[in-house]
This record gives sequence, C-alpha cells and structure tokens, in this order.
Amino acid sequence: MRHFLDTQDFSKAELLELIELTRRLKAADRDGVALKLLADASLGMIFEEPSTRTRVSFEVAMTELGGHALYLKPGEIHLGVRETIEDTARVLSRMVDILMARTLRHETLLGLAQAATVPVINGLTDYNHPTQVVCDVLTMIEHAPPDRRLEDLRVTFIGDATNVLSSLMHICTRMGMHFTHAAPARYQPPQAWLAIAEANIRASGGSLRITDDVTAAVADADYVYTDLWWWVGQEDQIPERRAAFMPRYQVTMDLLRRAPAHCKFMHCLPASRGVEVTDEVMDSPQSIIYDQAENRLHTEKGLLVWLLYPRLPRPAASLREEHARRLQSYLEEVRPRA
Ligand code: CP
Repeated sequence: MRHFLDTQDFSKAELLELIELTRRLKAADRDGVALKLLADASLGMIFEEPSTRTRVSFEVAMTELGGHALYLKPGEIHLGVRETIEDTARVLSRMVDILMARTLRHETLLGLAQAATVPVINGLTDYNHPTQVVCDVLTMIEHAPPDRRLEDLRVTFIGDATNVLSSLMHICTRMGMHFTHAAPARYQPPQAWLAIAEANIRASGGSLRITDDVTAAVADADYVYTDLWWWVGQEDQIPERRAAFMPRYQVTMDLLRRAPAHCKFMHCLPASRGVEVTDEVMDSPQSIIYDQAENRLHTEKGLLVWLLYPRLPRPAASLREEHARRLQSYLEEVRPRA
C-alpha cells in the first residue's frame, strides 16, 4: 500500500506515470466521458484548515469517478480530542477506502498515515503540498513552449519559503528541471530542504539557484510562480514581512516584462491581489492561474485512481449473484413484502 505524503516518496518515472494517467482522465472528461473507475468507493477528507480548491477538487473527483467523499473537520469528529489521531485513522480505515488530510502540523499527517490501513493523501501541511505541485507540473507541461522537454523548463518562485515552495522545489529538481527561488535571505529555504533538492539534482541533472536578486531570477524563467507572504497564524508578522518583500518581490507587469515573452505566471491560490502579485498580472494573458486551479480536479482524479483502483475488489458476477440470491431469500423469509 502506498500513501501520497511527499513527492520525494515517488520516483520521476512514477510521477510521470501519474501525470500521464491524469492527462488521459482529463481527455476523457473533455469528451464528456465520466469513467466510474471508483464506483461505490469512499474518501474521508480531514480538514484542520479551510480550503476551496483542495476540498472541492477531491469531492468532485470522487463523485465523477462514481465514489463518494465525506468532509470531516475538527468539532465534527474527534480529531486529536477524546481519542488519539492513530485511533481515528484506524477506525476511519475500517469505513472508507482512502483518506485525505490537511493538517496544521506535518507530524499529525505522519501519525495518521502510520496508523491508517488505507492510503493517505497529503492535502497540505505546514511542510508541503504535494498534490498542488503534481498539478503544477502538469500545467507547466501543457503550457510549455513548443519543442521544449520537461527537463529544459525553468521555474522561478518568488517570495516566502512556504510549504508550496518546498514542494515545488523538490518536485522540479526531482524531475530534472531548473529551479530558482528569489527571496530576501531571511525568507530563503532552510538547509534541510536545500539538501533534498541538491540530492535530487545529483540524480536528475536539474539545477537549483537561491538568490535575493529577483530581476536576475526571472531573466530566463519559463514560469514565474508566487504564493502568499503570510498565512494564518502569522498575522503578527505582517508588518515585517510586508517591509521585507514590498515592493521588490511583488510580481508586477514591470517584473514580468524582464522575463522572456513566453513566460507564464502561476499561483497556487488563494492570492492576495495587490500584495504578492498585482491585479494586472493575475488577469494578464500570461497568467495561467485558472488552468492551474482546474488541473487540481484532474490531478486529484489521477491520484485517486492511481492509489485506489488496484485496491478495489472486483468480485465475479457469479459471486454477486450468489450473495444477492441468498440475501433476497433471507429477506423474503424474515421481512416478506407486505
Ligand atoms: N491551493 C490550494 O490548496 O487551495 P485551497 O487552500 O483553497 O485548497
């Protein structure tokens, strides 16, 4: 059984296989073909934080694949209160076929996954956001300049070293792509994150550049990507963060014009318009943020099918008929039709 907690747990070949599966599911969707590959399966979705894209994409993906999703949040289930996380995972594993969790702390997700007996998908933690970045690589492939290989693509992330930055840096370097992070020194990634990216590069042949020179960082970028400068719980840091990033690291049309003309703008969303990015960039022809957001739905489908389809029972028709016959016979005996 595989969980999906970190793209680092998957080889480049496996990630490409997942992306190819996603592209095939998306092509079927484009033709109006709904494939019920997960008929009658259930997904338990645990959310310790709010979500628009992750919640809706997983719920709709399950519905379109013929399954069902349950939205579970603290206050409605005993998550870490009155019973341990591990007991919650063990119990839910007896009732649903797969779990997805957005947890405040990465350790909570690891505890869930360690105890669960069904696959667990990471829907974002304080460390990483792997479903987002698989979607991002798919979106980059779809919007790549003609005749460019994945390994030729250059991605520049501007701003805070967020959970999205860690995931994007790790998947891009794992795929052999060229990754740049531009931020003030104080907001650059910790050594432990860099060590993972550097190990990826030794294996993949990609590259990594960390700089505070945002103009140089975009000069050769195929994609400029940014994320929020502060998140829930960091409100007390807003003045210092704003002062560190504004105006130099805000993605403006002036900055984007310093990138090649074909460069696309990406953002995982939600965005603070007028803070890390201007309205003009968000709504420009170079922005692919809504294609990126839509791809969350297709990526969740790919991931759910990849993890769950091989695990679902496919009883023989004769076995189904035998059980139906036995149950109907029993019901006629104890609960005959009035
Ligand atoms: N990008 C992303 O994960 O969005 P949500 O927080 O709305 O799920």
